[in-house]
Amino acid sequence: MDKRNYCNALGFIATYKPLDEPLLFNEMNSRLDGIELKIRGKSSAAFYVNDYATAVEEIHKESFVFLLHIHPFMYKSDICGKRSDFDTYASMLEKLLPMLALSEKIVCQCRIDSAVPKDYSNKELTTLLADFLQDRGYIISPQDAMISVSLTVYDNSAYMGISFLEDNVSDWTGGVLFYSKSNDVICRSEFKIEEACKVFNVQISEGMRALDLGAAPGGWTHYLSQQGVLVDAVDPADLSEDVLKLKNVKHYQMTAQKFATIESFSQYDIMVNDMKMDTNQSVDITCEMSEQLRGGGICLMTLKLPKSGAMKRINIARKVFGRKFETVMIRQLYYNRSEVTICAIK
Ligand SMILES: C[S@@+](CC[C@H](N)C(=O)[O-])C[C@H]1O[C@@H](n2cnc3c(N)ncnc32)[C@H](O)[C@@H]1O
Repeated sequence: MDKRNYCNALGFIATYKPLDEPLLFNEMNSRLDGIELKIRGKSSAAFYVNDYATAVEEIHKESFVFLLHIHPFMYKSDICGKRSDFDTYASMLEKLLPMLALSEKIVCQCRIDSAVPKDYSNKELTTLLADFLQDRGYIISPQDAMISVSLTVYDNSAYMGISFLEDNVSDWTGGVLFYSKSNDVICRSEFKIEEACKVFNVQISEGMRALDLGAAPGGWTHYLSQQGVLVDAVDPADLSEDVLKLKNVKHYQMTAQKFATIESFSQYDIMVNDMKMDTNQSVDITCEMSEQLRGGGICLMTLKLPKSGAMKRINIARKVFGRKFETVMIRQLYYNRSEVTICAIK
């Protein structure tokens, strides 16, 4: 696979959270030239584009906040939803083969985004494509693949393409990921910080010091402390008993504003904030407290979005963070609900 193959792309499939479709479409229309909406599913849409390589470059420059996943398509076919579609998918894949090298590690990612039920599942499609490639000597290796063969299926049409996984915004099919429901998590919120660390490539190591603002019941604190981080957890609400008994956790049962007035100048490696409060106020508090973050330190914060004016709030946050931090990235993650995540590096 060569990036030059992107010039064979007719368009791309963008995946997003259904409620945020208008926000993503606005972002795309303002930053991508020559795109044309072809079809919409529940949580994704197919766009025609003049130049996919340029679209990928634009995404690498600065992430789209509301884009969960993207893949190009080189072929589109009409389908009927019966198992006879399998022949269509096989012949689409056959046409992609000249773009794939036998030595490349490949993952097949298939997603049905259709209101009309199909006679087959995502899993069956994935197996179909993977078996087809393996029979022809290609290496299917989902754990360390660099190349993705992607198929998105709508009511009456299907779109297939190949791409570098790193260009798809997320490594997971359609940006959808599931952490296992382990008994060892305090609350669902813990998945949010785990996903944020993976997406923004935040390196956490033993002995680091972290400040967790809005820590209760303690999911984020628990995640950090499990990796040997010493956590100062600030929240007027109670922390879970399981978190309170951790040796490397200290609970300051007070508001972040109060904590700011009493704490001496400790230097933190990481500052996280999941406080439930007005976004502008939360941004101001975080930026003020970033004085206690060492140079190069990381800040992760969820920005709870209002029902209207979300983009305005995001732009304000980007501007205010930009005064205190060298790098500011903002993205909606799979585990974010009515919120986005900011990752800033001081
Ligand atoms: C969504 S919860 C945080 C969940 C947490 N990240 C976890 O993983 O368990 C929001 C928290 O923000 C806290 N909060 C709201 N205003 C605050 C303030 N001014 N200072 C500190 N915490 C605050 C609330 O008490 C609540 O526990």
